[in-house]
Amino acid sequence: MDFETLIVEMRGAVALVKINRPQAMNALNSTVMKELITALAAFQHDDAVRAVVLTGSDKAFAAGADVKEMQGVAFADAYRGDFLAGWGEVAGFRKPIIAAVAGFALGGGCELAMMCDFIIAASTARFGQPEITLGIIPGMGGTQRLVRAIGKAKAMDLCLTGRMMDAAEAENAGLVARVVAPERMLEEALTAAQKIAGFSAPSVGMAKEAINRAFEQPLSEGLRFERRLFHALFATEDQKEGMAAFIEKRSAVFKDR
Ligand code: HXC
Repeated sequence: MDFETLIVEMRGAVALVKINRPQAMNALNSTVMKELITALAAFQHDDAVRAVVLTGSDKAFAAGADVKEMQGVAFADAYRGDFLAGWGEVAGFRKPIIAAVAGFALGGGCELAMMCDFIIAASTARFGQPEITLGIIPGMGGTQRLVRAIGKAKAMDLCLTGRMMDAAEAENAGLVARVVAPERMLEEALTAAQKIAGFSAPSVGMAKEAINRAFEQPLSEGLRFERRLFHALFATEDQKEGMAAFIEKRSAVFKDR
Protein backbone atom coordinates (compact mmCIF):
# COMPACT_ATOMS: atom_id res chain seq x y z
CA MET A 1 0.00 0.00 0.00
CA ASP A 2 1.35 3.40 -0.99
CA PHE A 3 0.52 6.35 1.20
CA GLU A 4 1.73 9.91 1.56
CA THR A 5 1.69 10.01 5.37
CA LEU A 6 1.88 6.34 6.39
CA ILE A 7 4.42 3.58 5.93
CA VAL A 8 2.84 0.14 5.97
CA GLU A 9 4.83 -3.09 6.22
CA MET A 10 3.72 -6.65 6.83
CA ARG A 11 5.60 -8.47 9.57
CA GLY A 12 4.20 -11.97 9.27
CA ALA A 13 0.50 -11.71 10.03
CA VAL A 14 0.92 -8.26 11.61
CA ALA A 15 0.53 -5.01 9.71
CA LEU A 16 2.95 -2.41 11.03
CA VAL A 17 1.64 1.10 10.32
CA LYS A 18 3.97 4.01 10.90
CA ILE A 19 2.69 7.59 10.88
CA ASN A 20 5.23 9.49 8.83
CA ARG A 21 5.06 13.29 8.89
CA PRO A 22 8.46 14.05 10.43
CA GLN A 23 8.30 17.72 9.45
CA ALA A 24 5.23 18.19 11.68
CA MET A 25 5.89 15.84 14.63
CA ASN A 26 3.39 13.45 13.02
CA ALA A 27 0.54 15.94 13.45
CA LEU A 28 -2.70 14.32 12.37
CA ASN A 29 -3.99 16.18 9.35
CA SER A 30 -6.92 15.07 7.22
CA THR A 31 -4.63 13.08 4.94
CA VAL A 32 -3.38 10.97 7.86
CA MET A 33 -6.97 10.37 8.91
CA LYS A 34 -8.12 9.37 5.42
CA GLU A 35 -5.11 7.15 4.81
CA LEU A 36 -5.37 5.41 8.17
CA ILE A 37 -9.07 4.74 7.64
CA THR A 38 -8.30 3.37 4.15
CA ALA A 39 -5.53 1.13 5.49
CA LEU A 40 -7.66 -0.22 8.33
CA ALA A 41 -10.60 -0.89 6.00
CA ALA A 42 -8.28 -2.90 3.77
CA PHE A 43 -6.88 -4.82 6.76
CA GLN A 44 -10.40 -5.56 7.95
CA HIS A 45 -11.08 -7.55 4.78
CA ASP A 46 -7.64 -9.09 4.37
CA ASP A 47 -7.31 -12.50 6.02
CA ALA A 48 -3.52 -12.18 5.88
CA VAL A 49 -3.72 -9.36 8.46
CA ARG A 50 -4.51 -10.72 11.90
CA ALA A 51 -3.34 -7.79 14.03
CA VAL A 52 -2.03 -4.25 13.63
CA VAL A 53 0.67 -2.24 15.36
CA LEU A 54 0.30 1.52 14.99
CA THR A 55 3.38 3.58 15.71
CA GLY A 56 5.11 6.89 14.98
CA SER A 57 8.73 8.00 15.20
CA ASP A 58 11.23 8.11 18.06
CA LYS A 59 10.25 11.73 18.65
CA ALA A 60 6.50 11.59 18.27
CA PHE A 61 3.72 9.07 18.02
CA ALA A 62 1.66 12.11 17.04
CA ALA A 63 1.76 15.65 18.45
CA GLY A 64 -1.97 16.12 18.00
CA ALA A 65 -4.37 17.21 15.34
CA ASP A 66 -2.70 19.51 12.81
CA VAL A 67 -3.03 22.98 14.31
CA LYS A 68 -2.10 24.64 11.03
CA GLU A 69 -4.95 22.84 9.29
CA MET A 70 -7.43 23.50 12.11
CA GLN A 71 -6.69 27.16 12.67
CA GLY A 72 -9.05 28.55 10.02
CA VAL A 73 -11.95 26.14 10.57
CA ALA A 74 -15.28 27.89 11.23
CA PHE A 75 -17.90 26.54 13.59
CA ALA A 76 -20.59 26.06 10.95
CA ASP A 77 -18.25 24.05 8.73
CA ALA A 78 -16.93 21.99 11.64
CA TYR A 79 -20.49 21.19 12.70
CA ARG A 80 -21.93 20.53 9.25
CA GLY A 81 -18.99 18.37 8.20
CA ASP A 82 -18.85 16.64 11.61
CA PHE A 83 -15.16 17.59 11.77
CA LEU A 84 -12.90 14.76 12.97
CA ALA A 85 -15.77 12.27 13.30
CA GLY A 86 -13.96 10.01 10.82
CA TRP A 87 -11.48 9.07 13.53
CA GLY A 88 -14.26 7.02 15.12
CA GLU A 89 -13.59 4.43 12.42
CA VAL A 90 -10.26 3.69 14.04
CA ALA A 91 -12.03 2.93 17.32
CA GLY A 92 -14.46 0.73 15.38
CA PHE A 93 -11.70 -1.40 13.82
CA ARG A 94 -12.54 -5.01 14.67
CA LYS A 95 -9.12 -6.67 14.57
CA PRO A 96 -6.61 -6.23 17.41
CA ILE A 97 -4.60 -3.02 17.21
CA ILE A 98 -1.76 -2.05 19.53
CA ALA A 99 -0.36 1.48 19.81
CA ALA A 100 3.43 1.54 20.13
CA VAL A 101 4.19 5.00 21.50
CA ALA A 102 7.55 6.75 21.72
CA GLY A 103 7.96 10.48 22.25
CA PHE A 104 4.98 12.82 22.15
CA ALA A 105 1.42 11.52 22.14
CA LEU A 106 -0.43 14.78 22.58
CA GLY A 107 -3.99 15.89 21.95
CA GLY A 108 -5.32 13.84 19.05
CA GLY A 109 -2.17 11.71 19.29
CA CYS A 110 -3.04 10.64 22.83
CA GLU A 111 -6.64 10.16 21.73
CA LEU A 112 -5.58 8.02 18.77
CA ALA A 113 -3.43 5.85 21.04
CA MET A 114 -6.43 5.43 23.33
CA MET A 115 -8.57 4.26 20.39
CA CYS A 116 -6.21 1.30 20.06
CA ASP A 117 -6.75 -1.81 22.19
CA PHE A 118 -3.76 -1.13 24.37
CA ILE A 119 -0.64 0.98 24.49
CA ILE A 120 2.94 -0.22 24.74
CA ALA A 121 5.11 2.79 25.50
CA ALA A 122 8.80 3.55 25.27
CA SER A 123 10.22 5.16 28.41
CA THR A 124 10.50 8.35 26.32
CA ALA A 125 6.73 8.57 25.78
CA ARG A 126 4.89 11.68 26.94
CA PHE A 127 1.13 11.86 27.00
CA GLY A 128 -1.04 14.92 27.28
CA GLN A 129 -4.18 16.75 26.25
CA PRO A 130 -2.85 20.29 25.67
CA GLU A 131 -5.91 21.51 23.73
CA ILE A 132 -6.76 23.94 26.53
CA THR A 133 -3.62 25.90 25.63
CA LEU A 134 -5.07 26.42 22.14
CA GLY A 135 -8.48 27.60 23.35
CA ILE A 136 -10.23 24.31 22.56
CA ILE A 137 -10.86 20.98 24.27
CA PRO A 138 -10.11 17.39 23.22
CA GLY A 139 -12.39 16.39 20.36
CA MET A 140 -11.46 12.81 19.52
CA GLY A 141 -12.46 11.18 22.79
CA GLY A 142 -9.96 12.71 25.22
CA THR A 143 -12.48 13.83 27.79
CA GLN A 144 -14.25 10.47 27.66
CA ARG A 145 -11.68 7.72 27.10
CA LEU A 146 -9.10 9.38 29.35
CA VAL A 147 -11.53 9.50 32.29
CA ARG A 148 -12.31 5.83 31.80
CA ALA A 149 -8.60 4.98 31.53
CA ILE A 150 -7.14 7.03 34.38
CA GLY A 151 -10.09 8.43 36.37
CA LYS A 152 -11.48 11.89 36.87
CA ALA A 153 -8.70 13.42 38.96
CA LYS A 154 -5.87 12.86 36.50
CA ALA A 155 -8.06 13.42 33.44
CA MET A 156 -9.10 16.81 34.85
CA ASP A 157 -5.50 17.61 35.73
CA LEU A 158 -4.27 16.84 32.21
CA CYS A 159 -7.15 18.46 30.32
CA LEU A 160 -7.35 21.60 32.47
CA THR A 161 -3.64 22.30 32.90
CA GLY A 162 -2.43 20.90 29.58
CA ARG A 163 0.55 19.31 31.31
CA MET A 164 2.26 16.17 30.03
CA MET A 165 2.55 12.83 31.78
CA ASP A 166 5.70 10.73 31.37
CA ALA A 167 5.61 7.02 30.59
CA ALA A 168 6.02 5.93 34.23
CA GLU A 169 3.12 8.12 35.38
CA ALA A 170 1.01 6.91 32.45
CA GLU A 171 1.69 3.29 33.37
CA ASN A 172 0.92 3.88 37.05
CA ALA A 173 -2.28 5.65 36.06
CA GLY A 174 -3.40 2.75 33.88
CA LEU A 175 -3.19 4.46 30.50
CA VAL A 176 -0.34 2.29 29.32
CA ALA A 177 -0.10 -1.51 29.46
CA ARG A 178 3.72 -1.80 29.38
CA VAL A 179 6.72 0.53 29.40
CA VAL A 180 9.93 -0.68 27.80
CA ALA A 181 13.27 0.77 26.71
CA PRO A 182 12.94 2.78 23.47
CA GLU A 183 15.01 0.33 21.44
CA ARG A 184 12.77 -2.55 22.52
CA MET A 185 9.40 -0.87 22.04
CA LEU A 186 8.62 -1.97 18.50
CA GLU A 187 9.83 -5.51 19.07
CA GLU A 188 7.71 -5.74 22.23
CA ALA A 189 4.59 -4.52 20.38
CA LEU A 190 5.19 -6.75 17.35
CA THR A 191 5.78 -9.78 19.57
CA ALA A 192 2.56 -9.10 21.45
CA ALA A 193 0.67 -8.62 18.17
CA GLN A 194 2.16 -11.82 16.72
CA LYS A 195 1.15 -13.70 19.83
CA ILE A 196 -2.43 -12.43 19.52
CA ALA A 197 -2.38 -13.25 15.80
CA GLY A 198 -1.70 -16.90 16.65
CA PHE A 199 -4.91 -17.32 18.65
CA SER A 200 -8.34 -18.14 17.26
CA ALA A 201 -9.68 -15.04 15.54
CA PRO A 202 -13.27 -15.46 16.80
CA SER A 203 -12.11 -15.62 20.43
CA VAL A 204 -9.76 -12.66 19.95
CA GLY A 205 -12.53 -10.62 18.31
CA MET A 206 -15.04 -11.49 21.01
CA ALA A 207 -12.61 -10.68 23.84
CA LYS A 208 -12.05 -7.25 22.27
CA GLU A 209 -15.76 -6.70 21.75
CA ALA A 210 -16.65 -7.73 25.30
CA ILE A 211 -13.99 -5.52 26.90
CA ASN A 212 -15.07 -2.55 24.81
CA ARG A 213 -18.66 -3.14 25.91
CA ALA A 214 -17.58 -2.56 29.51
CA PHE A 215 -17.28 1.12 28.67
CA GLU A 216 -20.75 1.39 27.24
CA GLN A 217 -23.19 -0.36 29.54
CA PRO A 218 -23.89 -1.23 33.17
CA LEU A 219 -22.12 -4.20 34.76
CA SER A 220 -25.19 -6.46 34.72
CA GLU A 221 -25.64 -5.99 30.95
CA GLY A 222 -21.92 -6.34 30.32
CA LEU A 223 -21.82 -9.61 32.23
CA ARG A 224 -24.79 -10.92 30.25
CA PHE A 225 -23.11 -9.87 26.98
CA GLU A 226 -19.85 -11.53 28.00
CA ARG A 227 -21.64 -14.75 28.91
CA ARG A 228 -23.45 -14.91 25.57
CA LEU A 229 -20.17 -14.49 23.68
CA PHE A 230 -18.55 -17.04 25.98
CA HIS A 231 -21.36 -19.53 25.21
CA ALA A 232 -21.04 -18.80 21.50
CA LEU A 233 -17.39 -19.82 21.49
CA PHE A 234 -18.40 -23.36 22.45
CA ALA A 235 -19.86 -23.60 18.94
CA THR A 236 -16.37 -23.24 17.43
CA GLU A 237 -13.98 -25.99 16.40
CA ASP A 238 -11.20 -23.88 17.89
CA GLN A 239 -12.64 -24.25 21.41
CA LYS A 240 -12.56 -28.06 21.02
CA GLU A 241 -9.05 -27.86 19.57
CA GLY A 242 -7.75 -25.44 22.23
CA MET A 243 -9.00 -27.59 25.09
CA ALA A 244 -7.94 -30.90 23.48
CA ALA A 245 -4.46 -29.46 22.93
CA PHE A 246 -4.24 -28.47 26.58
CA ILE A 247 -5.26 -31.93 27.78
CA GLU A 248 -2.95 -33.67 25.27
CA LYS A 249 -0.08 -31.36 26.30
CA ARG A 250 0.56 -30.03 22.79
CA SER A 251 0.21 -26.68 21.01
CA ALA A 252 -3.21 -25.84 19.64
CA VAL A 253 -3.66 -25.46 15.89
CA PHE A 254 -6.45 -22.96 15.40
CA LYS A 255 -8.46 -22.65 12.21
CA ASP A 256 -10.58 -19.59 13.02
CA ARG A 257 -13.67 -21.79 12.86
C1 HXC B 1 0.89 21.19 13.41
C2 HXC B 1 2.84 20.79 14.53
C3 HXC B 1 2.13 20.21 15.61
C4 HXC B 1 0.70 20.14 15.51
C5 HXC B 1 4.22 20.16 16.08
N1 HXC B 1 4.13 20.74 14.87
N2 HXC B 1 3.02 19.84 16.55
N3 HXC B 1 2.22 21.28 13.45
N4 HXC B 1 0.15 20.66 14.39
N5 HXC B 1 -0.05 19.58 16.47
C6 HXC B 1 5.21 21.26 14.04
C7 HXC B 1 5.76 22.55 14.57
O1 HXC B 1 4.92 23.63 14.20
C8 HXC B 1 7.11 22.60 13.91
O2 HXC B 1 6.95 23.00 12.58
C9 HXC B 1 7.52 21.12 13.89
O3 HXC B 1 6.30 20.35 14.03
C10 HXC B 1 8.45 20.75 15.02
O4 HXC B 1 7.84 21.13 16.25
P1 HXC B 1 8.56 22.04 17.36
O5 HXC B 1 7.51 22.69 18.16
O6 HXC B 1 9.58 22.91 16.75
O7 HXC B 1 9.30 20.92 18.22
P2 HXC B 1 9.61 20.90 19.78
O8 HXC B 1 10.13 22.23 20.22
O9 HXC B 1 10.47 19.71 19.99
O10 HXC B 1 8.21 20.68 20.50
C11 HXC B 1 7.50 19.51 20.29
C12 HXC B 1 6.04 19.67 20.85
C13 HXC B 1 5.41 20.95 20.23
C14 HXC B 1 6.09 19.80 22.37
C15 HXC B 1 5.30 18.41 20.46
O11 HXC B 1 5.56 20.87 18.81
C16 HXC B 1 3.97 21.10 20.54
O12 HXC B 1 3.60 21.54 21.62
N6 HXC B 1 3.10 20.80 19.56
C17 HXC B 1 1.68 21.05 19.64
C18 HXC B 1 1.06 20.08 20.59
C19 HXC B 1 -0.43 20.34 20.70
O13 HXC B 1 -0.88 21.39 21.09
N7 HXC B 1 -1.22 19.34 20.34
C20 HXC B 1 -2.64 19.40 20.40
C21 HXC B 1 -3.17 19.87 19.09
S1 HXC B 1 -4.92 20.08 19.18
P3 HXC B 1 7.85 24.19 11.96
O14 HXC B 1 7.26 24.37 10.60
O15 HXC B 1 7.70 25.35 12.87
O16 HXC B 1 9.23 23.61 11.96
C22 HXC B 1 -5.52 18.53 19.07
C23 HXC B 1 -7.01 18.48 19.08
C24 HXC B 1 -7.46 17.08 18.89
O17 HXC B 1 -4.87 17.58 18.96
C25 HXC B 1 -8.89 16.95 19.10
C26 HXC B 1 -9.71 17.34 17.99
C27 HXC B 1 -10.07 18.73 18.02
